[in-house]
Amino acid sequence: MNNVLIIGYGYWGPKLSRNFSNSEYFNLHSVCDLRVAMLNEAKKNYPNISIYSNYKKAIKNNKYKLAVISTPTSTHFKIAKYIISQSINVLVEKPLCLNIKEHQYLNKLAKKNNVKIFVDYPFVHSGSVNFVKELINNKKYGKIKSIESYREQAPIRKDTNVFWDLSVHDVSIITYLLSEKKISAIKTIYADNKNKNFKKISIFIKYINTDVFIKNNWNSPTKVRLIKFVFEKAIVYLDENETLYKIKVYKKLNNQFNNYSLEVPNIDLTEPLMNLINHIYNSIIKNKKNLLGEKFYTEITKTMIKIENNL
Ligand SMILES: NC(=O)c1ccc[n+]([C@@H]2O[C@H](COP(=O)([O-])OP(=O)(O)OC[C@H]3O[C@@H](n4cnc5c(N)ncnc54)[C@H](O)[C@@H]3O)[C@@H](O)[C@H]2O)c1
Repeated sequence: MNNVLIIGYGYWGPKLSRNFSNSEYFNLHSVCDLRVAMLNEAKKNYPNISIYSNYKKAIKNNKYKLAVISTPTSTHFKIAKYIISQSINVLVEKPLCLNIKEHQYLNKLAKKNNVKIFVDYPFVHSGSVNFVKELINNKKYGKIKSIESYREQAPIRKDTNVFWDLSVHDVSIITYLLSEKKISAIKTIYADNKNKNFKKISIFIKYINTDVFIKNNWNSPTKVRLIKFVFEKAIVYLDENETLYKIKVYKKLNNQFNNYSLEVPNIDLTEPLMNLINHIYNSIIKNKKNLLGEKFYTEITKTMIKIENNL
């Protein structure tokens, strides 16, 4: 069986654990956390797992096909470096790391040790984002002209800022959707202060034919996960907060101002984390070509750095 070690059982670790334990391809073998209370919680939920407070000890005692890093962002590089040096495939929570030098170092190390790196950018594995990708590619409603993405409310983190915590989701989605297009300009319209833990940001990215606007805020009374796609012949809303009707297509009628007909398509509602796990299985066990691999992840980090340099 393909044993998995989860490192970090805080907020996101339990969601990863649930999906790995439900997977037909992987065996949730061990959970590691520095906090005893979290280890007890994990053992209560999954009585058959082994628990560890030290990931190096877990790796010494067992054989893993994959290690998953869901610890705070500032720890990702150090832990990933160790996992890869032990020739174990790794899934790292977003963002992989905070600069391109570390990113490239890990890529090189992974090649040398013949293992793969995956990053949890979950939305690129969602039915809703893939529905929109299809619309962009098949031009059913003409060319894509602009994208506005609003992502507000999330746990405030001490070791990073809203840009590396939330904007990275938007950048991953935009990079995935506009893979063929080149960036011609980036402007950060507004970040609340120059403190490295700033909480809100607005970003404008000009792709050759598409304008992208991103607005993120950790502080908000309501949770917002809304993206608006403007096509030549329709406006498409993607709302991740909706349980069933995540996509709404407003088709322009006779090209008249403010005259639309509404369509609510059926989309694949499989949990994106499960799609990601299947993707990992296909890549490391079935050896299928990995389109969301090194090149894609590097592109995301590079775009993040380009935007950061504009702050
Ligand atoms: N992909 C997503 O949509 C998504 C959503 C939420 C969080 N995340 C990412 O997941 C990561 C964790 O976020 P969180 O909200 O779960 O944080 P958290 O603080 O709730 O949990 C982190 C856990 O890691 C443990 N930990 C820290 N250092 C450790 C170490 N060296 N060894 C073992 N355990 C260690 C902590 O004790 C804690 O329980 C972050 O990188 C975050 O960006 C991703």
